[in-house]
Amino acid sequence: MAAAAAATPGQSGPVPFKDIDDGSVSKHTPKEEFGDLVSALPRRQQSILQLRLYQGFWLPAHWVPGTVVFQRRFAPRPDDVVLASYPKCGTTWLKALAFAAAARGAYPPASAEHPLRRLNPHDCIPFIDEIFAAGEETKLDMLPSPRLMNTHLPYTLLPEPVTAGGCKVVYICRDPKDMVVSLWHFLRRAQPDLSFADTFESVCDGTVMVGPVWDHVLSYWRASVTHQDRVLFLKYEDMLRDTGANVRRLAKFMGQPFSAAEEGAGAVASIVELCSFDKMKGLEVNKAGTAGAYCAMPRDAFFRKGVAGDWANHMTPAMATRLDEIVREKFRGTGLTFT
Ligand code: A3P
Repeated sequence: MAAAAAATPGQSGPVPFKDIDDGSVSKHTPKEEFGDLVSALPRRQQSILQLRLYQGFWLPAHWVPGTVVFQRRFAPRPDDVVLASYPKCGTTWLKALAFAAAARGAYPPASAEHPLRRLNPHDCIPFIDEIFAAGEETKLDMLPSPRLMNTHLPYTLLPEPVTAGGCKVVYICRDPKDMVVSLWHFLRRAQPDLSFADTFESVCDGTVMVGPVWDHVLSYWRASVTHQDRVLFLKYEDMLRDTGANVRRLAKFMGQPFSAAEEGAGAVASIVELCSFDKMKGLEVNKAGTAGAYCAMPRDAFFRKGVAGDWANHMTPAMATRLDEIVREKFRGTGLTFT
Protein backbone atom coordinates (compact mmCIF):
# COMPACT_ATOMS: atom_id res chain seq x y z
CA MET A 1 0.00 0.00 0.00
CA ALA A 2 1.30 3.47 -0.82
CA ALA A 3 2.08 5.71 2.12
CA ALA A 4 -0.57 8.34 2.65
CA ALA A 5 -0.01 11.80 3.99
CA ALA A 6 -1.34 12.48 7.46
CA ALA A 7 -3.62 15.47 7.94
CA THR A 8 -1.75 18.69 7.13
CA PRO A 9 -0.67 20.33 10.42
CA GLY A 10 -2.68 23.46 11.13
CA GLN A 11 -5.41 22.61 8.64
CA SER A 12 -8.81 22.20 10.24
CA GLY A 13 -11.73 20.13 9.08
CA PRO A 14 -14.10 19.15 7.96
CA VAL A 15 -12.88 19.33 4.39
CA PRO A 16 -14.48 17.52 1.45
CA PHE A 17 -13.22 13.95 1.38
CA LYS A 18 -12.84 14.07 -2.38
CA ASP A 19 -10.49 17.05 -2.13
CA ILE A 20 -8.21 15.10 0.24
CA ASP A 21 -8.32 11.83 -1.66
CA ASP A 22 -5.39 12.34 -4.02
CA GLY A 23 -5.32 8.78 -5.33
CA SER A 24 -2.07 7.93 -3.53
CA VAL A 25 -3.68 5.15 -1.46
CA SER A 26 -3.99 1.90 -3.34
CA LYS A 27 -6.82 -0.52 -2.67
CA HIS A 28 -6.27 -3.67 -0.67
CA THR A 29 -9.47 -5.59 -0.34
CA PRO A 30 -9.75 -7.75 2.80
CA LYS A 31 -12.42 -9.86 1.01
CA GLU A 32 -10.31 -13.00 0.64
CA GLU A 33 -9.04 -12.75 4.20
CA PHE A 34 -12.59 -13.17 5.51
CA GLY A 35 -14.00 -15.48 2.85
CA ASP A 36 -14.45 -18.40 5.27
CA LEU A 37 -16.14 -16.22 7.85
CA VAL A 38 -18.61 -14.88 5.26
CA SER A 39 -19.44 -18.26 3.75
CA ALA A 40 -20.20 -19.73 7.21
CA LEU A 41 -22.89 -17.10 7.92
CA PRO A 42 -26.63 -17.75 7.32
CA ARG A 43 -27.67 -16.52 3.88
CA ARG A 44 -30.81 -14.94 2.34
CA GLN A 45 -31.49 -13.21 -0.95
CA GLN A 46 -33.18 -9.77 -1.08
CA SER A 47 -33.73 -8.76 -4.71
CA ILE A 48 -30.24 -8.47 -6.21
CA LEU A 49 -28.60 -8.47 -2.79
CA GLN A 50 -27.11 -11.53 -1.18
CA LEU A 51 -27.48 -11.02 2.56
CA ARG A 52 -25.52 -12.64 5.40
CA LEU A 53 -26.60 -12.65 9.03
CA TYR A 54 -23.74 -11.01 10.91
CA GLN A 55 -24.10 -10.23 14.63
CA GLY A 56 -27.89 -10.13 14.38
CA PHE A 57 -28.22 -8.05 11.18
CA TRP A 58 -28.65 -9.00 7.52
CA LEU A 59 -25.66 -7.32 5.92
CA PRO A 60 -25.09 -7.44 2.17
CA ALA A 61 -22.38 -10.14 1.92
CA HIS A 62 -19.86 -7.72 0.41
CA TRP A 63 -20.16 -5.45 3.48
CA VAL A 64 -19.04 -8.12 5.95
CA PRO A 65 -15.23 -8.04 5.46
CA GLY A 66 -15.15 -4.23 5.65
CA THR A 67 -17.34 -4.33 8.76
CA VAL A 68 -15.00 -6.77 10.49
CA VAL A 69 -11.94 -4.68 9.70
CA PHE A 70 -13.76 -1.47 10.70
CA GLN A 71 -14.72 -3.07 14.03
CA ARG A 72 -11.15 -4.21 14.66
CA ARG A 73 -9.14 -1.25 13.48
CA PHE A 74 -11.07 2.01 13.63
CA ALA A 75 -9.52 4.48 16.03
CA PRO A 76 -11.88 7.42 16.59
CA ARG A 77 -10.61 10.88 17.36
CA PRO A 78 -12.47 12.63 20.20
CA ASP A 79 -13.87 15.29 17.87
CA ASP A 80 -14.99 12.86 15.14
CA VAL A 81 -18.68 12.81 14.28
CA VAL A 82 -20.12 9.59 12.82
CA LEU A 83 -23.34 10.15 10.88
CA ALA A 84 -25.42 6.97 10.98
CA SER A 85 -28.62 5.96 9.27
CA TYR A 86 -30.70 3.13 7.95
CA PRO A 87 -30.50 3.35 4.12
CA LYS A 88 -33.05 5.65 2.45
CA CYS A 89 -33.83 7.60 5.62
CA GLY A 90 -32.15 10.89 4.74
CA THR A 91 -28.43 10.05 4.80
CA THR A 92 -27.62 12.33 1.87
CA TRP A 93 -29.47 15.26 3.43
CA LEU A 94 -27.89 14.73 6.85
CA LYS A 95 -24.45 14.60 5.24
CA ALA A 96 -25.08 17.87 3.44
CA LEU A 97 -26.46 19.63 6.53
CA ALA A 98 -23.73 18.35 8.85
CA PHE A 99 -20.99 19.29 6.42
CA ALA A 100 -22.44 22.73 5.74
CA ALA A 101 -22.90 23.43 9.46
CA ALA A 102 -19.56 22.05 10.66
CA ALA A 103 -17.50 23.62 7.86
CA ARG A 104 -19.29 26.99 7.78
CA GLY A 105 -16.19 28.84 9.02
CA ALA A 106 -14.08 27.83 6.05
CA TYR A 107 -16.95 27.54 3.58
CA PRO A 108 -19.70 30.16 4.06
CA PRO A 109 -22.94 28.46 2.99
CA ALA A 110 -24.06 31.34 0.76
CA SER A 111 -20.78 31.32 -1.18
CA ALA A 112 -20.89 30.39 -4.85
CA GLU A 113 -17.70 28.41 -4.21
CA HIS A 114 -19.21 26.18 -1.54
CA PRO A 115 -18.07 22.53 -1.97
CA LEU A 116 -21.67 21.30 -1.95
CA ARG A 117 -22.27 23.21 -5.18
CA ARG A 118 -19.58 21.18 -6.97
CA LEU A 119 -19.59 17.89 -5.03
CA ASN A 120 -22.29 15.38 -4.15
CA PRO A 121 -22.70 15.08 -0.33
CA HIS A 122 -21.36 11.50 -0.57
CA ASP A 123 -18.15 12.91 -2.05
CA CYS A 124 -17.80 15.27 0.90
CA ILE A 125 -18.29 12.69 3.65
CA PRO A 126 -16.99 9.11 3.25
CA PHE A 127 -18.75 5.87 4.11
CA ILE A 128 -16.36 4.57 6.80
CA ASP A 129 -17.05 0.88 6.32
CA GLU A 130 -16.67 1.19 2.53
CA ILE A 131 -13.25 2.69 3.12
CA PHE A 132 -12.30 -0.26 5.33
CA ALA A 133 -13.80 -2.72 2.82
CA ALA A 134 -11.41 -1.34 0.22
CA GLY A 135 -8.47 -1.43 2.63
CA GLU A 136 -8.13 2.33 2.21
CA GLU A 137 -8.30 3.35 5.86
CA THR A 138 -5.18 5.49 5.64
CA LYS A 139 -7.39 7.90 3.68
CA LEU A 140 -9.20 8.62 6.92
CA ASP A 141 -5.88 9.61 8.51
CA MET A 142 -5.52 12.22 5.79
CA LEU A 143 -8.67 14.03 6.92
CA PRO A 144 -8.01 16.95 9.26
CA SER A 145 -10.06 17.12 12.47
CA PRO A 146 -12.87 17.36 13.10
CA ARG A 147 -13.74 14.51 10.72
CA LEU A 148 -17.22 13.69 9.50
CA MET A 149 -17.84 10.11 8.36
CA ASN A 150 -20.92 7.99 7.94
CA THR A 151 -22.16 4.43 8.20
CA HIS A 152 -25.30 2.35 7.70
CA LEU A 153 -24.29 -0.13 10.40
CA PRO A 154 -26.45 -0.44 13.54
CA TYR A 155 -25.08 0.95 16.80
CA THR A 156 -24.36 -2.52 18.16
CA LEU A 157 -22.00 -3.23 15.26
CA LEU A 158 -19.98 -0.04 15.64
CA PRO A 159 -16.39 -0.50 16.85
CA GLU A 160 -16.08 -0.71 20.63
CA PRO A 161 -13.97 2.48 20.89
CA VAL A 162 -16.91 4.39 19.32
CA THR A 163 -19.63 2.94 21.56
CA ALA A 164 -17.36 3.38 24.58
CA GLY A 165 -17.56 7.12 23.97
CA GLY A 166 -14.60 7.75 21.70
CA CYS A 167 -16.55 10.18 19.49
CA LYS A 168 -20.02 11.56 18.76
CA VAL A 169 -22.72 9.85 16.73
CA VAL A 170 -25.72 11.39 14.93
CA TYR A 171 -28.51 9.08 13.73
CA ILE A 172 -31.35 9.85 11.35
CA CYS A 173 -34.41 7.64 11.07
CA ARG A 174 -37.64 7.81 9.11
CA ASP A 175 -41.13 6.35 9.08
CA PRO A 176 -40.43 2.79 7.86
CA LYS A 177 -43.35 3.02 5.41
CA ASP A 178 -41.68 5.87 3.55
CA MET A 179 -38.33 4.10 3.85
CA VAL A 180 -39.76 1.02 2.07
CA VAL A 181 -41.08 3.17 -0.76
CA SER A 182 -37.78 4.99 -1.11
CA LEU A 183 -35.82 1.73 -0.97
CA TRP A 184 -37.98 0.17 -3.67
CA HIS A 185 -37.52 3.11 -6.02
CA PHE A 186 -33.79 3.05 -5.33
CA LEU A 187 -33.30 -0.69 -5.87
CA ARG A 188 -35.39 -0.52 -9.04
CA ARG A 189 -32.69 1.62 -10.57
CA ALA A 190 -30.54 -1.54 -10.51
CA GLN A 191 -33.38 -4.06 -10.94
CA PRO A 192 -36.25 -2.48 -12.92
CA ASP A 193 -38.62 -5.47 -12.53
CA LEU A 194 -38.38 -5.54 -8.71
CA SER A 195 -41.87 -5.78 -7.23
CA PHE A 196 -42.98 -3.46 -4.48
CA ALA A 197 -44.70 -6.36 -2.71
CA ASP A 198 -41.42 -8.30 -2.47
CA THR A 199 -39.57 -5.32 -1.04
CA PHE A 200 -42.38 -4.74 1.45
CA GLU A 201 -42.33 -8.41 2.53
CA SER A 202 -38.60 -8.44 3.07
CA VAL A 203 -38.89 -5.38 5.33
CA CYS A 204 -41.78 -6.92 7.28
CA ASP A 205 -39.95 -10.19 7.93
CA GLY A 206 -36.68 -8.43 8.78
CA THR A 207 -34.56 -9.99 6.02
CA VAL A 208 -33.74 -6.72 4.33
CA MET A 209 -30.35 -5.04 3.98
CA VAL A 210 -29.04 -4.05 7.45
CA GLY A 211 -32.37 -5.27 8.87
CA PRO A 212 -34.37 -5.87 10.87
CA VAL A 213 -35.18 -2.18 10.51
CA TRP A 214 -36.70 -1.90 14.01
CA ASP A 215 -33.59 -3.39 15.63
CA HIS A 216 -31.44 -0.90 13.70
CA VAL A 217 -33.52 2.07 14.84
CA LEU A 218 -33.78 0.83 18.42
CA SER A 219 -30.04 0.28 18.68
CA TYR A 220 -29.50 4.05 18.20
CA TRP A 221 -32.61 5.09 20.11
CA ARG A 222 -31.45 3.24 23.23
CA ALA A 223 -27.93 4.65 22.90
CA SER A 224 -29.33 8.18 22.50
CA VAL A 225 -31.42 7.79 25.66
CA THR A 226 -28.48 6.50 27.68
CA HIS A 227 -25.81 8.79 26.23
CA GLN A 228 -27.56 12.04 25.32
CA ASP A 229 -24.26 13.91 25.23
CA ARG A 230 -22.77 11.75 22.52
CA VAL A 231 -25.61 10.18 20.50
CA LEU A 232 -28.10 12.51 18.79
CA PHE A 233 -31.28 10.94 17.42
CA LEU A 234 -33.03 12.78 14.57
CA LYS A 235 -36.19 12.04 12.60
CA TYR A 236 -36.51 12.84 8.90
CA GLU A 237 -40.09 14.04 9.39
CA ASP A 238 -39.05 16.48 12.15
CA MET A 239 -36.28 17.75 9.89
CA LEU A 240 -38.80 18.42 7.12
CA ARG A 241 -41.16 20.17 9.56
CA ASP A 242 -38.51 22.50 10.97
CA THR A 243 -35.17 22.16 9.26
CA GLY A 244 -33.68 25.25 10.89
CA ALA A 245 -34.36 24.05 14.44
CA ASN A 246 -32.72 20.72 13.65
CA VAL A 247 -29.69 22.39 12.05
CA ARG A 248 -29.27 24.35 15.29
CA ARG A 249 -29.52 21.12 17.32
CA LEU A 250 -27.02 19.43 15.04
CA ALA A 251 -24.52 22.29 15.17
CA LYS A 252 -24.79 22.56 18.95
CA PHE A 253 -24.36 18.81 19.34
CA MET A 254 -21.25 18.91 17.14
CA GLY A 255 -19.83 21.58 19.46
CA GLN A 256 -20.41 24.50 17.10
CA PRO A 257 -23.56 26.36 18.20
CA PHE A 258 -24.54 29.36 16.09
CA SER A 259 -23.50 32.68 17.62
CA ALA A 260 -25.92 35.61 17.88
CA ALA A 261 -23.96 37.27 15.08
CA GLU A 262 -24.36 34.23 12.85
CA GLU A 263 -28.07 34.03 13.66
CA GLY A 264 -28.41 37.70 12.82
CA ALA A 265 -26.61 37.19 9.52
CA GLY A 266 -28.97 34.37 8.53
CA ALA A 267 -26.40 31.54 8.64
CA VAL A 268 -28.97 28.88 9.55
CA ALA A 269 -31.31 29.91 6.74
CA SER A 270 -28.39 29.83 4.27
CA ILE A 271 -27.53 26.25 5.28
CA VAL A 272 -31.17 25.16 5.04
CA GLU A 273 -31.40 26.72 1.58
CA LEU A 274 -28.10 25.27 0.33
CA CYS A 275 -29.13 21.76 1.42
CA SER A 276 -32.79 21.95 0.46
CA PHE A 277 -34.15 19.17 -1.70
CA ASP A 278 -34.89 21.39 -4.70
CA LYS A 279 -31.50 23.08 -4.56
CA MET A 280 -29.56 19.82 -4.26
CA LYS A 281 -31.59 17.99 -6.87
CA GLY A 282 -31.13 20.88 -9.30
CA LEU A 283 -27.33 21.00 -9.09
CA GLU A 284 -25.54 19.67 -12.15
CA VAL A 285 -23.21 17.61 -9.94
CA ASN A 286 -26.20 15.70 -8.54
CA LYS A 287 -27.77 15.00 -11.92
CA ALA A 288 -25.00 13.01 -13.56
CA GLY A 289 -22.43 10.39 -12.57
CA THR A 290 -22.52 7.89 -9.75
CA ALA A 291 -22.03 7.84 -5.99
CA GLY A 292 -21.09 5.01 -3.65
CA ALA A 293 -18.17 2.61 -3.81
CA TYR A 294 -19.84 -0.62 -2.66
CA CYS A 295 -22.41 -0.27 -5.37
CA ALA A 296 -22.17 2.79 -7.59
CA MET A 297 -25.66 4.23 -8.09
CA PRO A 298 -26.66 7.17 -10.32
CA ARG A 299 -26.38 10.34 -8.24
CA ASP A 300 -29.87 11.46 -9.19
CA ALA A 301 -31.24 8.29 -7.50
CA PHE A 302 -30.44 9.91 -4.14
CA PHE A 303 -32.86 12.79 -4.83
CA ARG A 304 -36.28 11.39 -5.70
CA LYS A 305 -39.19 13.20 -4.02
CA GLY A 306 -38.04 14.23 -0.55
CA VAL A 307 -41.41 14.26 1.21
CA ALA A 308 -43.17 12.50 4.07
CA GLY A 309 -46.20 10.33 3.39
CA ASP A 310 -45.47 9.06 -0.12
CA TRP A 311 -46.25 5.57 1.21
CA ALA A 312 -49.93 6.35 0.67
CA ASN A 313 -49.30 6.28 -3.09
CA HIS A 314 -47.75 2.80 -2.98
CA MET A 315 -49.33 0.77 -0.16
CA THR A 316 -52.81 -0.46 0.48
CA PRO A 317 -54.25 0.63 3.84
CA ALA A 318 -53.89 -2.99 4.98
CA MET A 319 -50.16 -3.02 4.17
CA ALA A 320 -49.65 0.26 6.01
CA THR A 321 -51.50 -1.01 9.07
CA ARG A 322 -49.51 -4.25 9.04
CA LEU A 323 -46.13 -2.51 9.00
CA ASP A 324 -47.27 0.10 11.55
CA GLU A 325 -48.37 -2.67 13.89
CA ILE A 326 -45.12 -4.61 13.56
CA VAL A 327 -43.14 -1.48 14.36
CA ARG A 328 -45.46 -0.37 17.19
CA GLU A 329 -45.12 -3.80 18.79
CA LYS A 330 -41.32 -3.77 18.50
CA PHE A 331 -41.12 -0.24 19.91
CA ARG A 332 -43.53 -0.91 22.77
CA GLY A 333 -42.17 0.40 26.07
CA THR A 334 -39.19 2.16 24.48
CA GLY A 335 -40.75 5.63 24.27
CA LEU A 336 -40.14 5.79 20.50
CA THR A 337 -43.01 6.29 18.02
CA PHE A 338 -43.34 7.42 14.43
CA THR A 339 -46.61 9.30 14.86
P1 A3P B 1 -37.48 9.61 -1.31
O1 A3P B 1 -37.05 8.42 -2.10
O2 A3P B 1 -38.67 9.33 -0.44
O3 A3P B 1 -37.67 10.83 -2.14
P2 A3P B 1 -30.72 8.36 1.62
O4 A3P B 1 -29.98 9.63 1.43
O5 A3P B 1 -30.59 7.80 3.00
O6 A3P B 1 -30.44 7.39 0.54
O7 A3P B 1 -32.26 8.74 1.55
C1 A3P B 1 -32.84 9.11 0.33
C2 A3P B 1 -34.14 9.84 0.61
O8 A3P B 1 -33.85 11.16 1.10
C3 A3P B 1 -34.92 10.00 -0.66
O9 A3P B 1 -36.30 9.96 -0.29
C4 A3P B 1 -34.48 11.39 -1.12
O10 A3P B 1 -35.33 11.99 -2.04
C5 A3P B 1 -34.43 12.11 0.20
N1 A3P B 1 -33.58 13.31 0.16
C6 A3P B 1 -32.39 13.45 -0.47
N2 A3P B 1 -31.92 14.70 -0.32
C7 A3P B 1 -32.84 15.37 0.40
C8 A3P B 1 -32.95 16.73 0.84
N3 A3P B 1 -32.01 17.62 0.57
N4 A3P B 1 -34.05 17.09 1.56
C9 A3P B 1 -35.01 16.18 1.85
N5 A3P B 1 -34.97 14.89 1.43
C10 A3P B 1 -33.91 14.49 0.72
